[in-house]
Amino acid sequence: MLQSKAFGTSVQVKGWVRTRRGNKKVGFIALNDGSTIKNVQIVVNMEDLGEESLKPITTGACICVNGVLTESPGQGQDAEIQAREIHLYGAADPLTYPLQKKGHSLEFLREIAHLRPRTNTFGAVFRIRHHMAIAIHRFFHERGFYYFHTPIITTSDCEGAGQMFQVTTLNLYDLKKDKSGSIDYADDFFGRQAGLTVSGQLEGELAAMALGAIYTFGPTFRAENSNTPRHLAEFWMVEPEVAFNEIEDNMQLAEDFIKYCLRCALDNCRDDIEFLNNMFDKELLGRLNFVLEQDFIRLTYTEGIRILEEAVAGGHTFEFPVFWGSDLAAEHERYLVEDHFKCPVILTDYPKEIKSFYMKQNDDGKTVRAMDVLFPKIGEIIGGSQREEDYAKLSERAQEMDVPLKDIWWYLDTRRFGTAPHSGFGLGFERLLLFVTGMTNIRDVIPFPRAPHNAEF
Ligand code: 4AD
Ligand code: MG
Repeated sequence: MLQSKAFGTSVQVKGWVRTRRGNKKVGFIALNDGSTIKNVQIVVNMEDLGEESLKPITTGACICVNGVLTESPGQGQDAEIQAREIHLYGAADPLTYPLQKKGHSLEFLREIAHLRPRTNTFGAVFRIRHHMAIAIHRFFHERGFYYFHTPIITTSDCEGAGQMFQVTTLNLYDLKKDKSGSIDYADDFFGRQAGLTVSGQLEGELAAMALGAIYTFGPTFRAENSNTPRHLAEFWMVEPEVAFNEIEDNMQLAEDFIKYCLRCALDNCRDDIEFLNNMFDKELLGRLNFVLEQDFIRLTYTEGIRILEEAVAGGHTFEFPVFWGSDLAAEHERYLVEDHFKCPVILTDYPKEIKSFYMKQNDDGKTVRAMDVLFPKIGEIIGGSQREEDYAKLSERAQEMDVPLKDIWWYLDTRRFGTAPHSGFGLGFERLLLFVTGMTNIRDVIPFPRAPHNAEF
């Protein structure tokens, strides 16, 4: 409709009123149906329709307009609609409708997450979210990966970090305990302790050992009590897993994958990204184009630590200490990416103590074949590794890290039967969206964020 030049034809539009202005003779309604950031302008001849009938058509009201498409003399649009008839589906009382014309803070909009998709900002963000989800499926499908569904309810804590939400049908008011005071899960729904998945990787690996190249894309849950702008308790993760890939192939896949998504965003979400660029972050478009043109820098954790130590020696202060063996905090990651290299960085070969049991061990006995992709403004956007394919080494490491072998016997079986080198990674979908939209709080790129003390909608 907005692009149509079929002036003179009868049209019908349905949508929500963004604004209404005008005088006693003529009224203008900016109407939006959610399909794009652009509104269509409805021109109302007051004498034809009567001033009274327009009264309830205020910001937020939902209407259906029958009219004629005409060339617009006004600026900002080619076409507008001369209204013949307006049907009001639902009014929105200006005294109580919380979304008025004036700009609202993102914090306030989070409190009305049920209505915020109706704002320009969240319309743009959620349209981009859709396009990125499609891009992810297209990327893998075009490369011959199979979309594999891993379970949401699970009994294994893949990352071993103890951040699982528990799933139970036990009566919490009347818990049966054994002599040692432990809860007896025999009566629970699954007959044992179960939880929501923190990652589909372990099951994804089983699939890669059969279908070759797979990916998962689904909700992931972590009960980590981190109230940060980059953590959610419920987020979406994309996890490719590929048989015969070594860490170098894994890095290349990650880089190609992210760039493909960014290109899709620029190709398909131009209006929305331009809006966000002008509204919140004037460097957004520049940053997206910049990253597309860069080869990601690849270096080892050990080299990264050296750079950070040099920064400290040179007078730079970090909140958290830097030493070989320390886990990198967001401030360290961002120093490498934003201050030192000014480019996305893939950091590899981390100390085994700070990484999960399943990562392939290097010959030095100290490091594992991990890789984290670090991005400007975000920090870690991808975490992955080559996997330990050797049965003995894997089960030994699992035991060292207190992962009960009896719980992962099925995972270990892949190493007993037809094992092979393989690699994979996990991309935090919302972290990608932070980068693509330029939003700074992860709660603003998912429709209904789940975070500590936050699950209203
Ligand atoms: O680095 P993580 O913990 O890696 C894994 O879960 C592996 N099993 C992935 C794999 O190799 N298949 O998480 C992967 C990514 C992180 O880099 C981050 O982008 C995102 O998931 N992520 C979160 N995003 C939002 N909120 C949280 N609480 C997140 N935790 C991780
Ligand atoms: Mg990680």
